[in-house]
Amino acid sequence: MDIQRVGVVGCGLMGSGIAEVSARSGCAVIVVEESPATAKAGQERIERSLATAAKRGKLSSDDVERILAGLDVVDDMQALADRQLVIEAVPEDEQLKLDVFRRLDRTVGDDSILASNTSSIPIMKLAMATGRPEQVVGLHFFNPVPVLPLVELVSSLLTSEATAQTAGDFAVDRLGKHLIRSQDRAGFVVNALLIPYLLSAIRMLESGFASAEDIDQGMMQGCAHPMGPLALADLIGLDTTAAVARSLYEEFKEPLYSAPPLLLRMVDAGLLGRKSGRGFYTYDR
Ligand SMILES: NC(=O)c1ccc[n+]([C@@H]2O[C@H](COP(=O)([O-])OP(=O)(O)OC[C@H]3O[C@@H](n4cnc5c(N)ncnc54)[C@H](O)[C@@H]3O)[C@@H](O)[C@H]2O)c1
Repeated sequence: MDIQRVGVVGCGLMGSGIAEVSARSGCAVIVVEESPATAKAGQERIERSLATAAKRGKLSSDDVERILAGLDVVDDMQALADRQLVIEAVPEDEQLKLDVFRRLDRTVGDDSILASNTSSIPIMKLAMATGRPEQVVGLHFFNPVPVLPLVELVSSLLTSEATAQTAGDFAVDRLGKHLIRSQDRAGFVVNALLIPYLLSAIRMLESGFASAEDIDQGMMQGCAHPMGPLALADLIGLDTTAAVARSLYEEFKEPLYSAPPLLLRMVDAGLLGRKSGRGFYTYDR
């Protein structure tokens, strides 16, 4: 199946990026977002990103117009009825995602593929909320989606090879992404390695071992990382970081995956990183 009609659920950090790259690849895209404020912010984020690409000579003004004309943000899931592929990008909350998959299953056609951008929830659980587990797959993008080339393709025990092939071809041939395959284990490849590193940096800060700036500078200047772990946690979102840690801990029961109290209290306080204006650092919004 050549995917040309794409749906995205959620127009936050990731959904807006997935919608943007899909529309830039020539697909017709409909995004469903329940919060009007986030829908507006997501649309503005896409417009800013396209304007930057145009300023750098990567897109013409005609391209920008065409891309925006092929991208709609709506609040009603029924608008996804004719989509060949729907990518879910709502917050990392299992009950919420199960509910979205149940509703998507009732909404889209029998041949449609349902994908999740989850960072850590088993694809098998989401698939079993539908009547089409063989057509459910993980397509895990990275933030910022228009910039980072990687997509993790995750098949559950029941995902058909045809579904995995179509979803993988979409990521590689349509979007120009680099694909790696992962087993359906919490965190997949990248987050299973990254999250314990971020949690260690937060523990280091919490125990007074070093300042936030020194921890981040240590990894940037000493290991050539483009960004330190605390700035990266702020970029990912501290709520998302804590949610992924929870899933990893639930799956493996290893102390290295347990979220430190400082992270949990910051989430309680609404200090979510860049998206809320304050996390380990403060940001202009
Ligand atoms: N933030 C990252 O760096 C990152 C990277 C890779 C994957 N992910 C994963 O992507 C998913 C989304 O993360 P995010 O950072 O974009 O979160 P986010 O909070 O920025 O965006 C989620 C959006 O979904 C919307 N939403 C919630 N329920 C909805 C519903 N029923 N219908 C329509 N919209 C709904 C919310 O209003 C919000 O705008 C999560 O599963 C996360 O683990 C995040």
